Formats: sequence, structure tokens, C-alpha cells
Amino acid sequence: MRVFQIQDSWGFEHLQLATRADPQPGPGQVLLRMKAASLNYRDLVVPNRGYGSFTGELPLIPVSDGVAEVVELGAGVSRVQVGDRVCPCFHQGWLAGEPDLERLTQTLGGPLDGMMADLVCLPEAGVVKVPAHLGDEEAATLPCAALTAWSALVSHDTLGPGSRVLVQGTGGVALFALQFAKLLGAQVTIISSSDAKLARAQALGADAGINYVTTPEWAKAARAISGGRGFDHIVELGGEKTLPQSLRCIRPGGTLSMIGVLSGASLAAPLGLVVTRRVRLQGITVGHRDAFEAMLRAIEQHRLRPVVDRVFAFEELKDALRYLQSGAHFGKICIRH
Ligand SMILES: NC(=O)c1ccc[n+]([C@@H]2O[C@H](COP(=O)([O-])OP(=O)(O)OC[C@H]3O[C@@H](n4cnc5c(N)ncnc54)[C@H](OP(=O)(O)O)[C@@H]3O)[C@@H](O)[C@H]2O)c1
Repeated sequence: MRVFQIQDSWGFEHLQLATRADPQPGPGQVLLRMKAASLNYRDLVVPNRGYGSFTGELPLIPVSDGVAEVVELGAGVSRVQVGDRVCPCFHQGWLAGEPDLERLTQTLGGPLDGMMADLVCLPEAGVVKVPAHLGDEEAATLPCAALTAWSALVSHDTLGPGSRVLVQGTGGVALFALQFAKLLGAQVTIISSSDAKLARAQALGADAGINYVTTPEWAKAARAISGGRGFDHIVELGGEKTLPQSLRCIRPGGTLSMIGVLSGASLAAPLGLVVTRRVRLQGITVGHRDAFEAMLRAIEQHRLRPVVDRVFAFEELKDALRYLQSGAHFGKICIRH
């Protein structure tokens, strides 16, 4: 079968097309024929040895997210059938409950082999069936970006009609956060580097937008949009440079979902505000299978459609990653197998 793999050394330049023997499903495993994959910011980081923490071995097949058809069952499999369309779970070992190190470290696309292969073999427990109304590329976007946004807004908060949510950027996690916050009935403010992207976000349902390049001190404008009260929930994707501003426009008692570090990973923020405004800093790391299945029920019920920016061919993975790195995208970038 065809694979893309990080060959014998870490680094983007060692990402190569190659072939491997077709995998065979063992007891309790399913064989998947991949239909599509989608990229996350993380897929730019993994070829350079993850966040410095991967101990996994090379060669490594990158990319965590995809959708596939079940083509063969190992002995004893009962959760899925041949012909089902499924997404592999990002955290292969985290089915429900509280995280622990074992559950959090068994992740696809590093250190476990990922989706850039024609065939993938996984435990039946590590896949979920996807709604029929979604196209393959749309379904491929769900395991990481969508579940991260869902975990932040639904699993770790109690938002509802009238809640105020601020979302940073217009990438994968951000647009799912916008869509889920609207499902919950919240008022949503988006910050973006681009007026054109803000207009598109408003067409998708965002109630207000701020350009964080032309308004670098965006917290004041954001607070005004929230009627002076502050936001109930901020989906924090920028990290180092955005957290100080988020702390100035979160409401007392509000939740800051700490998800991304796009502007840096060091902490240099007015922590006094966390204390005096009793702010909750909630770390998010994707989510477990139970939450994935709850999210899929909501997506199906509301016929929600992920925003796919562009689709590349399997062989064009490096071009797709460069496009992701450029930041020109709005929503998700996908790969067709
Ligand atoms: N903790 C988790 O479980 C988890 C899961 C998924 C992702 N993440 C992290 O979340 C972040 C976003 O991931 P993604 O896959 O959604 O990325 P993405 O699709 O590449 O989105 C990136 C977008 O973020 C916006 N952005 C960049 N710098 C910004 C800044 N300083 N302030 C505000 N917005 C900024 C830009 O939007 P505009 O072009 O509109 O400005 C950019 O297009 C990454 O750091 C990723 O590692 C974490």
C-alpha cells in the first residue's frame, strides 16, 4: 500500500511517499480503507518531532484525522460492520472518563501511525460511525478540530441562549467553535487577521468581528461588544500574545479554554485577574470517544456541515501542509486518498 511517512530522521524534508505491506486485522481489530484525511496545525509540528516530546519510532505515518470504510473485521469484532464509514478517534485509548497519561499519549499521527496510508488497522474500540449527510472530506475534519471545540464549549461549560463566546481566528478549531456556539444559542464574536475572513465568519453566523491586526488591543473593543459585561467563554487559540487580552475581556467567573499556542507558549499574563475575577483556565486536549459520539449526534441532528477550504490529492501532502502553514485557509484543509 501507499503511505506518506517521516522516514529515518525527523524534519519536514524527511516526509516521503513510500510503500508498506498491507496490514491484516488481528482479533478485535478492523481494517480500514482510507477515503480522506484532514490537516490540523499539529501536523505541521509532528514532522519536527512533535512538541519535542515524541518518543515514538520512525518511520512514522503522519496526520491524525480521517474517514474510512471498514473493509475487513478481525475475530470477535461487533461494534462495526464491513461497509460502515468511520472516523478513527484521535485518542485511541481514551474512551470515556477522566484522562490519564496512558489515555492521552496514544494519539494517531504521532506517536501512533496516522492516516496517510491506503489501509489502516485499528482496534474496533478506536473508531466511530459518522453521519450519512457528510461528504468524505467533511467527515474527515471531525476527530481533532471539531472534538476539541466541542469539549471546550459543551463538555467543560454550560453555555446556552444568551451566552457570549469569543473565538480566535478562522482556522479549523475556530470555525467548529463558531458553529457549536451558534447551535447552543450563544452570541459569538470572532477575531481574525482578515476583514474578508471576518465577513465569511459573519455569513456563517458570527454576530460580531474584530480584526486583531488593525485593532491590536482588541480586548477593549471585544468588551464593548459584550455590553461591558465580558465573555462567558473564550476559545483561546493564540496563547502567549492573546491570553493577556483574553483576561481583560472574560467576565468574572468565565471560562478560558486553553487550546492553542499559535502566538507562543510562554506564560506572561496578568495572573492577578485570574484570581480577582475568579476566571477558570481550562486546559483542553481534544476529547474522549463518548464526547465524539455525543458531538456526532448533534452534528447529525442539526445537519451541521464542516467548513472545508480546499482539498488536495494524496500525493500533494507537502503542498497541503505548506498551504496550512501560510495561514490563508478558512476552516479545514483536506486530503483525498
Ligand atoms: N489542545 C488541543 O486539544 C488542540 C486541538 C486542536 C488544535 N489545537 C491548537 O489550536 C491551535 C489552532 O489549531 P487549528 O488546527 O485550528 O489551526 P489552523 O486551522 O491552522 O488555524 C490557525 C488560525 O488561527 C488564527 N491565528 C493565528 N495566530 C493568531 C493570533 N495570534 N491570534 C488570533 N488568531 C490567530 C489565524 O486565523 P485568521 O487567519 O483568521 O487570523 C489562523 O488562520 C493550534 O495552536 C493547535 O496546535 C489544540
